[in-house]
Amino acid sequence: MNNNTRENFGSKLGAVLAAAGSAVGLGNIWRFPIETGQNGGAAFIIIYVACVFLLGIPIMMSEFFIGRHTQTNTAGAYRKLAPGTPWKWVGRLGVLSGFIILSYYSVVAGWTAEYTRLAIGNCFDGKSAADFPTIFSAFVSNPWKSVLWMVAFMLITHVIVVRGVKSGIEKFSKVMMPALFVILVVLAVCSIMLPGASRGIEFLLKPDFSKISGAVVLNAMGQAFFSLSLGLGCLCTYASYFRSDTNIGKTALNVALIDTFVAIMSGFIIFPAVFNAGYAISSNDIGPSLLFITLPSVFQQAFGSIPMLSYGVSVLFYFLLVVAALTSTISMHEVVTAYVSEEFNMPRRKAATIVTIACSVVGVFCALSFGPFADFKLFGMNLFDLFDYVASNIFLPVGGMFISIFTGWYLDKKLIRDEITNNGTLRVPYLRFVIFILRYFAPIAIAIILLNQLGLFSWF
Ligand code: TRP
Repeated sequence: MNNNTRENFGSKLGAVLAAAGSAVGLGNIWRFPIETGQNGGAAFIIIYVACVFLLGIPIMMSEFFIGRHTQTNTAGAYRKLAPGTPWKWVGRLGVLSGFIILSYYSVVAGWTAEYTRLAIGNCFDGKSAADFPTIFSAFVSNPWKSVLWMVAFMLITHVIVVRGVKSGIEKFSKVMMPALFVILVVLAVCSIMLPGASRGIEFLLKPDFSKISGAVVLNAMGQAFFSLSLGLGCLCTYASYFRSDTNIGKTALNVALIDTFVAIMSGFIIFPAVFNAGYAISSNDIGPSLLFITLPSVFQQAFGSIPMLSYGVSVLFYFLLVVAALTSTISMHEVVTAYVSEEFNMPRRKAATIVTIACSVVGVFCALSFGPFADFKLFGMNLFDLFDYVASNIFLPVGGMFISIFTGWYLDKKLIRDEITNNGTLRVPYLRFVIFILRYFAPIAIAIILLNQLGLFSWF
């Protein structure tokens, strides 16, 4: 596709909502509350917010200006800015990570769709806490159901991506993101009004600094990367559709604020209900069990005295997850589709079809790793866990580290200044601070997380 026919987001709000749609996802509603629960509540949140501001926003700004400046997919962007150098491999690694994350993320996204169906069919009604683990394991180990839902989710993503940036991604985000905010606030209000909610709120807001350790800081950084969609060129691809008057710093700030708001609101939905139902967040709540075993039961117990309310809360909550997951899968699909279409000179529809088929095939293996393929293990993990580990704990930080080194050390400072200030038309007093972070703080901090995660080095 040549640059003259390349689409742009139609409005600044559309661009912010699409990028926020990418950021807001299962990471906010599922991973964030678990991490918070296990890592000292509000103390974790304080460190997380520091990571968002000190690392997340500067790296997001880098992805934005690389994408907007080059107006192409993430691998092409590095090729344009650093022709003939190995930097293009950072872009390619991003495309590969996008492909891998999309494949396993769609499996969980499919589960949220099945749970929406169960909630709509009132299937949780009258069930006791002991029933939910059985319902969940029967579902995930059924090869047909989880594969079909994964493929269905991939197809919906496909349809929106094929419609293009303006009439697909932007239009969908503009309708769904406000809907998501409304559902989020309604659910948080229901949860906060429960008797005993204050213990959940206290848990979320009262910091226990004794819980903070090196590992907690590392988790907070990893969570910030995943939640803000950083490190694989996702936001770089979206920014290639930004118009030239988009304020990069302001957009990054808005996306980070929306993402953090959604994460904290999810805590306000989950913890008051969990405490009200007398549960304690435990290490068993790692992985899918919080969303698909603990919460359906919590909603029954907490709101069960008014059946309409427990029905409504369950339906809205799982629908919220579907919407949040969908705007994220769209963004990952777009990274790979833009790459295939532009680098191999293919019409968008054909590129998207190839991506959908390839991801669905890999997704089938991920889905089956909870059933027939459960015994197939590499490095002690099933395929699903292995993909999650490699992509989010290794590829994303490696990608983020290289992005900061690329912008901090390789790129011309003038290019960065021109992009961030829109050729001198915006006053950006924090420019030097951002460059300092990209040059020194981000690469060193990320290198420490990474080495630590790989067990090659342990400072903490
Ligand atoms: N940020 C999304 C979430 O919180 C997931 C996601 C979408 C993502 N695009 C990404 C994660 C790119 C890493 C990189 O669920």
